[in-house]
Amino acid sequence: MSNSNGSTPRRGFLAASAVGFPAVLSAMQAAKTLKVGLVGCGGRGSGAAAQALKADDYAELTAVADIDMERAQACIDRLKRVSKDKVKVEAKNIFLGLDAYQQLIDSGVDVVLLATPPGFRAAHLRAAIAANKHVFCEKPVAVDAPGVRHVLETAKMARERNLSIMAGFCWRRSAAAVSLACLSRRMV
Ligand SMILES: NC(=O)c1ccc[n+]([C@@H]2O[C@H](COP(=O)([O-])OP(=O)(O)OC[C@H]3O[C@@H](n4cnc5c(N)ncnc54)[C@H](O)[C@@H]3O)[C@@H](O)[C@H]2O)c1
Repeated sequence: MSNSNGSTPRRGFLAASAVGFPAVLSAMQAAKTLKVGLVGCGGRGSGAAAQALKADDYAELTAVADIDMERAQACIDRLKRVSKDKVKVEAKNIFLGLDAYQQLIDSGVDVVLLATPPGFRAAHLRAAIAANKHVFCEKPVAVDAPGVRHVLETAKMARERNLSIMAGFCWRRSAAAVSLACLSRRMV
């Protein structure tokens, strides 16, 4: 689905879209399925996938990756209960193990959701961007300084390739949290 030369005309709207996860998947003009792959099928991954499927009429979950089959299957079952028609994960697209993320990336998805524990994030994010995928990436994006520097380089790569990376920072969108932060800044 992604072009090997790094350009993403069909997905150009994604990069140009406003911030916010639903906007990442706003595919109304694309008139074609957006294949979503989930790496890390725990609580947040299941939630992020549900949100992705709800966010756009054209989004379908086509692949999942985890290190634990029970987690992967439980996630698929949970998602089918809320979004049955949009969960189209064939058995061959349930990937397991430490290289499952790469197999998922190579399975033909357009968008990758990264929701493993954060120690893996920097490497998974680099692999997704290197393969010209758009990414929703849970926070934290890294767990140490080398990881953060790696992610900053990956973000630069993504910009050059016109790819979107959305991070799961939620509090910056909470009116209450933003007001509290402003207030505390005024007090110091
Ligand atoms: N933005 C938010 O509000 C928010 C909320 C909760 C969690 N999070 C973040 O989401 C991430 C996941 O949290 P969670 O609560 O879903 O954790 P979780 O433990 O419920 O899920 C993690 C999943 O990843 C799998 N996994 C572990 N290593 C893997 C690997 N190398 N490859 C593939 N799968 C792997 C695990 O088997 C598990 O199914 C964390 O980084 C957490 O900080 C963000």
